[in-house]
Amino acid sequence: MRVLITGGAGFIGANFVRQTVRERPGVAVTVLDALTYAGDRASLAGLEGVELVVGSVADAELVDRLVAGSDLVVHFAAESHNDNSLNDPSPFVQTNLVGTYTLLEAVRRHGVRFHHISTDEVYGDLELDDPAKFTDRTPYNPSSPYSSTKAGSDLLVRAWVRSFGVEATISNCSNNYGPYQHVEKFIPRQITNLIDGVRPRLYGAGLNVRDWIHVEDHNAAVWAIIDSGRIGETYLIGADGEKNNLEVVQTLLEVFGRDAGDFDHVADRPGHDLRYAIDASKLREELGWEPRFTDFRSGLETTVDWYRDNEAWWRPRKAAVETKYAATGQ
Ligand code: NAD
Ligand code: DAU
Repeated sequence: MRVLITGGAGFIGANFVRQTVRERPGVAVTVLDALTYAGDRASLAGLEGVELVVGSVADAELVDRLVAGSDLVVHFAAESHNDNSLNDPSPFVQTNLVGTYTLLEAVRRHGVRFHHISTDEVYGDLELDDPAKFTDRTPYNPSSPYSSTKAGSDLLVRAWVRSFGVEATISNCSNNYGPYQHVEKFIPRQITNLIDGVRPRLYGAGLNVRDWIHVEDHNAAVWAIIDSGRIGETYLIGADGEKNNLEVVQTLLEVFGRDAGDFDHVADRPGHDLRYAIDASKLREELGWEPRFTDFRSGLETTVDWYRDNEAWWRPRKAAVETKYAATGQ
């Protein structure tokens, strides 16, 4: 089987490539990645037999050629950071919408199986005390340019399944953490701040809740859906990992042996979603998936160790990210 993995030089995609090479020796991997600021060849270092094609998912000619030679496309490529989408939405429209459309047209022409990676943010947010969690029946209600373009991409996939019979599945996952995550994101930003002796930065009061899942658990669920999911279905992926941002920062401070109050409150994100929470019972019951990383603190500790051991990977990006955040008072 030859699989085309878009965005395979980014955080989740690179972990997916590594998991695939490790666990599925019969699968040949081609990565299509534009190597934007978020993609890095170094995330694929040491892997043998993985072909990296540098180019955009919105390049119809290139996409057509690569899809024609594939049995499966797993589509991770996206502009993924909410804060960036508030500064400049245009690459989000281009990659997340036009890129997904371009891939869908190619898989339609060549009859290739497609799995679309999406986010729980398409559902908007929940109140802190709402007993409900997101399910695949929750109405779409995205808040940011990022989440609205992801929502649009999901709807394109659904329409291509219904109108053209494309063989596709969709997964909407909650917040991932683990190795190879860009230092612009919450957890790696605070870990690398703490390694540098800098105080973590909490947006607003820090009461916003995210439903954390280890990237290995996300990717195992993606393979379960590819192997056994029903065509046209949407599966929500989450590991019952709700924590508010203050709790996450305080756990990290403990891991680093620092005082619980050793952080700064900074300017909040405009339109900041309050809470995400996933009901993954369909995935668990129908496909038998279970998360392996059920202890958040120990998952964080191994992630901290990874950033300590791989400074050469993240250091080149750190200063530019902090300069960008300083400009918005964050
Ligand atoms: P990331 O920003 O770390 O990586 C994105 C990758 O896509 C990068 O390698 C980048 O170079 C590549 N890319 C961007 N534009 C491209 C283009 N036009 N053509 C080809 N490649 C392009 O993102 P991530 O956190 O790994 O997220 C991957 C996917 O998972 C995204 O679709 C995102 O919406 C989704 N997702 C992320 C999370 C999370 O917590 N990070 C949770 C749920 C879903
Ligand atoms: O829910 C899934 C989504 O999770 C994915 O679709 C996105 O691609 C991914 O980036 C992530 O989105 P968030 O906006 O939730 O992640 P981020 O890491 O940017 O922020 C997590 C929380 O931490 C959020 O409430 C904002 C807050 N935050 C973030 C940063 C960077 C801080 O308090 N301080 C910070 O320095």
